[in-house]
Amino acid sequence: MDETERQYYFIDAVREQVHALEQSLGRPLTYHVTTFGCQMNARDSEKLAGILEQAGYLPSETEDADFVLFNTCTVRENANQRMYGRLGAVHSRKKKHPQMLVAVCGCMMQEPDEVETIRKKYRFVDIVFGTHNIYRLAELLYKRLCTGEMVVDVWEDTDRIVEDLPNARKYSFKSGVNIMFGCNNFCSYCIVPYVRGRERSRDPKDILREIERLSQDGVREIMLLGQNVNSYGKTLKEPMTFAGLLREIEAIDNISRIRFMTSHPKDLSEELIEVMRDSKKICRHLHLPLQSGSSRILKEMNRRYTKEGYLALAERIKKEIPDISLTTDIIVGYPGETEEDFQETLDVVRRVRYDSAFTFLYSRRSGTPAARMKDQVPEEVAHERFDRLLKEVQDISKEVCARFEGQTMDVLVEEVNPQNPDLVSGKLSNNLTVHFPGDASLIGRILPVYLKECHGFYYIGELQ
Ligand code: 5AD
Ligand code: SF4
Repeated sequence: MDETERQYYFIDAVREQVHALEQSLGRPLTYHVTTFGCQMNARDSEKLAGILEQAGYLPSETEDADFVLFNTCTVRENANQRMYGRLGAVHSRKKKHPQMLVAVCGCMMQEPDEVETIRKKYRFVDIVFGTHNIYRLAELLYKRLCTGEMVVDVWEDTDRIVEDLPNARKYSFKSGVNIMFGCNNFCSYCIVPYVRGRERSRDPKDILREIERLSQDGVREIMLLGQNVNSYGKTLKEPMTFAGLLREIEAIDNISRIRFMTSHPKDLSEELIEVMRDSKKICRHLHLPLQSGSSRILKEMNRRYTKEGYLALAERIKKEIPDISLTTDIIVGYPGETEEDFQETLDVVRRVRYDSAFTFLYSRRSGTPAARMKDQVPEEVAHERFDRLLKEVQDISKEVCARFEGQTMDVLVEEVNPQNPDLVSGKLSNNLTVHFPGDASLIGRILPVYLKECHGFYYIGELQ
């Protein structure tokens, strides 16, 4: 029996128990998955939800459900705090409804100290697992139902990629697609290589088959996911470049938009810029994390590019693809960062002129080399720099985002506007948001919209 079949066996076994419980309670059982962190976690959550639905649980909008699962992130310290806060709230509910099950998975659970905390202080948690074995949810759930005891199953790493399990997509018209797992970069502030394991690329045939199926299922936009998509294929038996993979995906009918996350500047090839330039489907958006504008700090961070190298790359991309939107991640207050270093970061921000930038206060993640460094930047200094950076980023972003005002561009309609039911909201190829008058019948369609006014980070438009 292969692993996929094994898991379907456990899904069926859980379904029988769910069914029996439903009979005795006289109502259906529900689940809720709360996701923290990045797009990879969001994609994992769709897979987890798919398994639970196949096992007979119905989705619930809130954490007031029979099975509550937290898919955690650990990239910054406050993500951990938030997660424990939520877990506390769920505990009160579980006291009133003892049949309720609570599970915690994801990046945070790859850290042994956090698993210990759950074992000791959050004994009401029923299932704990990590990032490498999410496909085993049904098996772990079955074990919990049979034994009545906390089940903890965390793996350090895996070379296994299990395909073809059920999944419940959040949107019918767009989907994430994993192309690789793990990370080999070891940026000195980052916990990801320790919690997500070594870099592994998925076989291109499996990726293409998944995208073909998605397209037959009505998906128009795909987001290729990996910690460092630019190094895709290097570890395959028959090596392949990311640009090569993109070329093959471009040929799949009915997929109209291709996005990807995240690009490491050091591995971004000339070939990729050419493929993006010549493509009709690859979106006009590139997320290119800068982290710092100081070559000295970049070296300390083990990023393996310099300020000048990054600027030259951004310049080349803009020259080849003039309508591209560049976005970035920046960390403020890395150990040893001086005012001069910070000025270099501001300088890059002013020169590149990002559409948007995620700015982060440096967070001391234990287990990373940077956490052991002595000259940690005092909190007030980091905060003050953070505020200055944020203002600069926002002022520039307002100007840059407005550059398409008066043009008509294609929008993929995603939803009825949650604040105003007379409007629908969607995305341009460059990832900017557009709101325009319309109704739910437009969801999932790509339509030409006149971009009437830019309001900072979004447009108000009119359907053409
Ligand atoms: N402190 C602050 N920000 C961090 N990031 C990763 N690790 C840390 C940390 N220790 C940021 C980086 C990365 C994004 C996903 O999170 O900017 O690109
Ligand atoms: Fe995503 Fe990294 Fe957070 Fe894990 S630790 S959820 S990989 S951002």
